[in-house]
Amino acid sequence: MGKYIIAGNWKMNKLPSETYEFVKEVAEKTKGASCEVVCCTPYVCLAPAIEAAKGTHVKIGAENLHFEDSGAYTGEVSADMLCDMGVNYVIIGHSERRQYFAETDETVNKKTKKALEKGLIPIVCVGESLDEREAGVTMDLITMQVKKAFAGINADDMKKVVIAYEPIWAIGTGKTATADQAEEVCGGIRKVLSELYDDATAKAVTIQYGGSMNAKNAAELLEKENIDGGLIGGASLKSEDFSIIVAAAK
Ligand code: PGA
Repeated sequence: MGKYIIAGNWKMNKLPSETYEFVKEVAEKTKGASCEVVCCTPYVCLAPAIEAAKGTHVKIGAENLHFEDSGAYTGEVSADMLCDMGVNYVIIGHSERRQYFAETDETVNKKTKKALEKGLIPIVCVGESLDEREAGVTMDLITMQVKKAFAGINADDMKKVVIAYEPIWAIGTGKTATADQAEEVCGGIRKVLSELYDDATAKAVTIQYGGSMNAKNAAELLEKENIDGGLIGGASLKSEDFSIIVAAAK
């Protein structure tokens, strides 16, 4: 299955002035990790994060990007800008961006293509709301999100993509999907990828679970066959908790 990746999503937390020391701490506490370790930070924290990660195993990611190369898009940040700084990963289509910033499957598709074109590794988020889960349409919805997010992306590029399955009802709520619920959807995503591409591509894609993953529940989730890592919000803000999750990803 895909290579194991544990990525922190700081969201709108931490100051630039706290970043250098924190990333150094993460690097120190996760030394010798058997998975890829990524910190995705606010734009303004990227420079000190990259500085701190230099010469360590830690990779740095952004939380968003714009799909155009440049131009009159006040307040936006392009893929070239991120690459120029030394950013490796970028989160795309997080449910908070879909909910509060009107991102759609179409913009997710454009952003994913732009990230791949520029050599950034996209972490593309999909996930259902509580209403959708209760209505029994979880897998239909996720299938649609996956098909639309990756429309027009070839198998070679697809192999570089990371997908984060994040049930919206589990994000920041302390309510984790059970390991079986998470595995069911992650396995379902892998099946959709085999149908859209082929088995080899489906196996190469890293599929993360995200949504209240923490130091206590990480091992059980990461043990599952189709869960190749985690996208961690709250627990990525404490280096000790984050390092315990990293250690659970073997
Ligand atoms: P959480 O956030 O771990 O705080 O639930 C996960 C995410 O939104 O990526």
